[in-house]
Amino acid sequence: MAGSLKVLLVGSGGREDALAWKLSQSPLVEHIYVVPGNGGTERPGSGVSNVSDTAADDYPRLLLLSQRLGVGLVVAGPDQAVVDGIEGYFRGSGIPCFAPSREAAEVEGSKAFAKDFMKRHGIPTAAYETFDSYLKAKQYLESLDYRVVIKVDGLAAGKGVVLPVDKKDAHRALEQIMVHGQSGSAGDSVVIEEYMDGNEISVLTFSDGKTTRTLPPGQDHKRAYDGDCGPNTGGMGVYAPVPFVSATNMEEIERLLLQPTFRGLDADGRRFVGMLFTGVMLTTSGPKVIEYNARFGDPETQALMLLLKDTDLAQVLLSCTNGSLSDVTIDVSSDFACNITVAAGGYPLDYSKGGAIVLHTPPKDVQIFHAGTTYIDGQLVVSGGRVFSVCATGSTLRKAVSNAYAGVKSIRFDGMFNRTDIAAKSLSLL
Ligand code: AMP
Ligand code: GLY
Repeated sequence: MAGSLKVLLVGSGGREDALAWKLSQSPLVEHIYVVPGNGGTERPGSGVSNVSDTAADDYPRLLLLSQRLGVGLVVAGPDQAVVDGIEGYFRGSGIPCFAPSREAAEVEGSKAFAKDFMKRHGIPTAAYETFDSYLKAKQYLESLDYRVVIKVDGLAAGKGVVLPVDKKDAHRALEQIMVHGQSGSAGDSVVIEEYMDGNEISVLTFSDGKTTRTLPPGQDHKRAYDGDCGPNTGGMGVYAPVPFVSATNMEEIERLLLQPTFRGLDADGRRFVGMLFTGVMLTTSGPKVIEYNARFGDPETQALMLLLKDTDLAQVLLSCTNGSLSDVTIDVSSDFACNITVAAGGYPLDYSKGGAIVLHTPPKDVQIFHAGTTYIDGQLVVSGGRVFSVCATGSTLRKAVSNAYAGVKSIRFDGMFNRTDIAAKSLSLL
């Protein structure tokens, strides 16, 4: 690293390891401090190191730390930081913070807010109603003759969405959330919405508040096991770009979903600066928004960073914070990228931590990002459910997928598992 810019990166997942990896290639950057980081972001001598004595959600201390270290860019990884309004703690400090304001991040922080926002601005999404009262929610459910999805209003660590198979199942889920408090206070208010059939894609867009730049679409695999079976997870693998998404589809997504979203937030006094993640369902009646996240997606980011070729990520993030994104080139490769999540046995339910990991040097062109790992007494061990993101590129989707799977063989620990069918549906259509 040749530059003089010090970066403070908040988070501890595969997304943050990938962001640190890409930021470390920037000629502007001297050092990246990751709070709290993981086993992959502690790389002595490489300009990337962890800060373990400051909590990732102690924003006043993060400001003091940044001032003490001479940090020139703060980057927020996780949802909690953006929804808590980390950006506001740095506003006026002279230290740019790549994160939307708390007001703009409400598109992620409150599903009810996001749905009302979309309705107000005519952005296509599933029909819905929001309820604070269990009895009213129950009556509404009774009156519907279509399949529904139930979402708790607040952040619920990826566990806030239930996809009931029938009405009985839906009633049971509603009772669990609103009567038995299964999701805690996040479930005091619920959104009941129409189930949308179609192909789901993830669209990530940089914004400086005026100019936006959308990256190639990715497709995540949320269920734990092959064939889209098992419980929902934080993401078991992703690939990008998605071959069945045409340039026309992307133009429609920009025109019907993304631009109205940025314009709408601006009009509501919530100008969005940062990374907007839009979950999009491609339905027979056009693209519709499933959800927004006000930050980089995980596991999408790990794959996308590999496609950013010579792009200077530090320059892109700084340009978003100072309104000059239109001056910056984002160089996207024509390759495909694939990311396989290697998880701990039992994830996303109970899994054991502390197991020793053996990590061999992966094949050339494979990039292994750490997620749930840490070092204890010099030994790399499992510390989270999603343990690694194994990423690779290829000139075709098939090559990218097989390269990534070849990389998985470099990892060994007791109980490890991964899906074996990432991108299989897309590949079967080619
Ligand atoms: P969310 O947290 O809103 O992204 O929801 C988690 C997952 O549930 C999404 O990635 C979709 O796979 C699924 N989902 C959410 N809303 C709907 C919907 N209205 N119709 C179909 N699937 C949905
Ligand atoms: N991949 C979805 C998310 O980051 O929430």
